[in-house]
Amino acid sequence: MSRQRRVSSFDDEGVRSLLTSYTYEEVEEIANNILKRVKCRPSLGIICGSGLGKLANTVTNQEIIKYNEIPGFPVSTVPGHEGKLVFGQMCGKSVVLMQGRAHCYEGYSPQKITLPVRTMKLMGVTTLIVTNAAGGINENFKVGDVMIIKDHLNLAGFAGVNPLVGLNDDRFGPRFPAMSHAYDVELRRIAKATATDMGFDSFFREGVYSMMVGPSFETVTECRYLKLIGVDATGMSTVPEVIVARHCNMKVLGLSLITNECIMEYDATNFANHEEVLQTGEMRSKDLQAFVSKMVEHLSL
Ligand code: HPA
Repeated sequence: MSRQRRVSSFDDEGVRSLLTSYTYEEVEEIANNILKRVKCRPSLGIICGSGLGKLANTVTNQEIIKYNEIPGFPVSTVPGHEGKLVFGQMCGKSVVLMQGRAHCYEGYSPQKITLPVRTMKLMGVTTLIVTNAAGGINENFKVGDVMIIKDHLNLAGFAGVNPLVGLNDDRFGPRFPAMSHAYDVELRRIAKATATDMGFDSFFREGVYSMMVGPSFETVTECRYLKLIGVDATGMSTVPEVIVARHCNMKVLGLSLITNECIMEYDATNFANHEEVLQTGEMRSKDLQAFVSKMVEHLSL
C-alpha cells in the first residue's frame, strides 16, 4: 500500500489536521472502535443535510454515538447539524444515520469531511442516501420541492477541492474512479416510483446538483452562470461524500431539498439566508421522513 508522509490525523486542532488524509488502518481503527460500542451492523447509511436531522425519528432501537466521542471525527459547527451517529432499524433494515455533517467551509479538508463515509464503508455499509439543502437554480423549482439528484457538477473540484487528492490506497478504490454513474439508476427509479405511490409527484423533481465551497451564498452572476451550464440546484456539500462513496463502490441516492430560490435579478431585494434553509427543512421534514422510510422498505440490501 502507498503510505503518505503525514502527521497524526487524530489532532482536531490547527492547520495540520487540514493537510492530512487518513490511512486505511486509521479508518479501520475508527470503524472497529464504533462497532465495539453498538450492536447494530448497518448496511445502509443516511446523511442528513441542514434541517433534515429529524429523519432520525423513524429509526427504532436507537444506539447513539456523538461525533465528539469518536477520535478523529469531524464535528459540525453549524446550526441545524446535531453531530450524532444514530444506529438502529428502519423498516426492518439496519441503518446508520449521520445527524449532521461537516463542510469544507468550516475549515475542514475534503479528506476530513469524508472520513465518516469511509468509516461507514468499513462498518459494512453498501448503500448511501445523501440529503442536503440546496438553492433552486431551475426556475421551475419551488421552495419545498425535493430534487432527486441525477448528476453533479463538482465546481469546487475545478478549484482543486477533491477528497481523493493525495496518495491512493487501492483497498478503498481505484486511483481514477469513474463518476459517470455516480447516482444509481435503480435507486433513482425506486425513488421516483415511491414518490408517485405516495402522491408526492407535485413536489418531486429530478436534476443536477452543483457544489461551491461557500460559506458565502452565490452572487447573481454566479447563479446565472450555474443556470447556463445546466445546474438545477446548488449547495455546499454532498459532492465530496458522493465521490468518496463511489470510489469505494457504494451505491448512492442523493436528495436535495430546495430551501430557497437563487436570486437571478441584479436589482432583487430578497437574499438567501440560513434561517430560510432551516425553516424549509422543518416544513418538509414529515414528508421526507415518510418518503425515506418508504424507500428503505423497497431497497434490497
Ligand atoms: N446556495 C448554496 N447553498 C445553499 C443554498 C444556496 O442558495 N441554499 C441552501 N444551501
